[in-house]
Amino acid sequence: MIDVIAIDGPAASGKSTVAGCLAETLNIPYINTGNMFRAVTRAAQAAGIRTQEDCTEARLRPVLEKLQMDYRQTPEGKWDLAVNGEFPGSALRAPEIAALVSQVAAVGCVRSRLKDLQRSLAVRGMLVMEGRDIGTEIFPDSRWKFFITATPEERARRRLAQSGENVSGATLEEVARGIAERDRIDSLRAIAPLRPAPDAEIVDTTGMTISGVVGHIVARVKA
Ligand code: DC
Repeated sequence: MIDVIAIDGPAASGKSTVAGCLAETLNIPYINTGNMFRAVTRAAQAAGIRTQEDCTEARLRPVLEKLQMDYRQTPEGKWDLAVNGEFPGSALRAPEIAALVSQVAAVGCVRSRLKDLQRSLAVRGMLVMEGRDIGTEIFPDSRWKFFITATPEERARRRLAQSGENVSGATLEEVARGIAERDRIDSLRAIAPLRPAPDAEIVDTTGMTISGVVGHIVARVKA
């Protein structure tokens, strides 16, 4: 068993907020693996990769070769993803990245490169890692596994409230459609699809507060 708290779940389920608060409460690092896939997507787009058809191993391999990713401390002392020595931060939440990230994340060479990086981070001790396949593929041996979800309506409302990731002026229906499309691709892909690990606890956060969800998980971890 490895001391990783695996937090998985569909898009806009609130898992990043929960994982961040959980890590702060327990005073351990928090790794957001979605940001790694977003960083690859950003670099791919800069290299002219625009559509699902462009997302091939042959086109993505050279992008990965030029990409150096690691976790470092920001000038404010927070641990964050560094890409080629810089912190992309909120630039990774751009709507154009969200529109292609699931297609990039379905490609084998992308997943295997990021799996190595994600597994290497666990040598630093206990941590919270959040994504889609942490409990199933990255750390099937993690001590704690939670699958965070909420109804599609609730998730669309949460994502709309988080303005940075939406096309400006987007309606609730458009946001809901974008989320459903990402979940469809993430769940149907051949490698490491989105699904709860058989031994994960499913937490439906519809109608729950963030502190309620965090409190529930902290109690489980401390038990
Ligand atoms: O959590 P997020 O919305 O930032 O994730 C962006 C995309 O990255 C998501 O649509 C699927 C992919 N992803 C993945 O395939 N595996 C992970 N562990 C994390 C994210």
